[in-house]
Amino acid sequence: MADGVSRDARLPLDCAHPVFYCSAGDTNRPGRSIMNFFLETIQVLLLSIWYNVESFIHLFVPRKRKNIAGEVVLITGAGSGIGRLMAQEFASHGTVVVLWDINQEGMKETAKLAKQSGATKVHYYLCDCSDRNEVYRVADQVKREVGDVSILVNNAGIVTGKKFMDAPDSLIEKTVEVNSMAHFWTYKAFLPAMIANNHGHLVSIASSAGLIGVNGLADYCASKFAAVGFAESIALELLANGKDGIKTTIVCPYFINTGMFDGCQTKWPSLLPILKPDYVAKKIIHAVLTDQVYLMMPKSIYLIASLKNILPMKQGILLGQYLGAFNVMDRFTGRNRKQE
Ligand SMILES: NC(=O)c1ccc[n+]([C@@H]2O[C@H](COP(=O)([O-])OP(=O)(O)OC[C@H]3O[C@@H](n4cnc5c(N)ncnc54)[C@H](O)[C@@H]3O)[C@@H](O)[C@H]2O)c1
Repeated sequence: MADGVSRDARLPLDCAHPVFYCSAGDTNRPGRSIMNFFLETIQVLLLSIWYNVESFIHLFVPRKRKNIAGEVVLITGAGSGIGRLMAQEFASHGTVVVLWDINQEGMKETAKLAKQSGATKVHYYLCDCSDRNEVYRVADQVKREVGDVSILVNNAGIVTGKKFMDAPDSLIEKTVEVNSMAHFWTYKAFLPAMIANNHGHLVSIASSAGLIGVNGLADYCASKFAAVGFAESIALELLANGKDGIKTTIVCPYFINTGMFDGCQTKWPSLLPILKPDYVAKKIIHAVLTDQVYLMMPKSIYLIASLKNILPMKQGILLGQYLGAFNVMDRFTGRNRKQE
């Protein structure tokens, strides 16, 4: 792993290479099928070696950063936290920044900061991303007033912070609507122009809780697992359709010190530190500039997420207890309760 880039962090660009499938009718041509099997296997082996060598080289040689000046970047949930910081970072690259949030005052402040950071233009819109019709209506307004969005950052998020049986149904529904379903509607609204131009970038701010289940975060984890699965599947759908100009970045951070998870504690801060918002925003923009598909923070999440899938269940639970995963939510207060 280099700079948060795991071996499989980038999708191979060429999905259009010939693939040899054998239909039921081909059984009378075993020679051709064996030949195809060998050719394809050799091709896969050689490409696999090359992709690993390429990854290794990039441990030492930084990847080329793309120029995003002039791109139209839309960030949902831009009224605070990492949404605001990402807006400032994107602005510093000379982009046109479009902000969405339900917090008008927060957005005004973000707009001011983004302008100071160098945005060509800043536009902000009140939009409740959990409401499909509102997403479509405000998206149409953005297309009319600003133009086509070429970098879409689905960042808006909420957390219930209650044990599943204590969480009101309405809050569970809202969590799924904001953290995952909103992604469907924004993609539906902005993807057509990206597909037409074969150009764009889709950024999904998910969570490490979208890779590993957490005691006390059932609805949040479900919504973030959905966000990861959705972004990953659309990335593959685009690639399979030859739309390799549309990139995807899936972001899975551990706790960030923005206030959203106030009260939560980490057992081993050197292994699983609470992340600084500024650091997270910078890493996300770097991942976008270098077309990195998966960004997990801190780096130990790469290891923990992969161990989860290969360790015996009992050992996984032992490791979870050791890492404090069973108690991270014990002291959760969240931003709202703190403000009350
Ligand atoms: N803070 C963490 O520890 C942490 C960890 C991993 C992932 N994340 C994810 O990062 C993203 C940003 O979180 P943050 O820490 O900056 O929190 P935050 O609360 O500061 O930011 C979330 C923003 O989303 C907005 N929002 C909420 N509901 C909305 C809706 N229906 N429509 C539009 N906007 C809405 C809020 O007003 C707020 O401005 C979230 O998706 C969160 O789940 C956060």
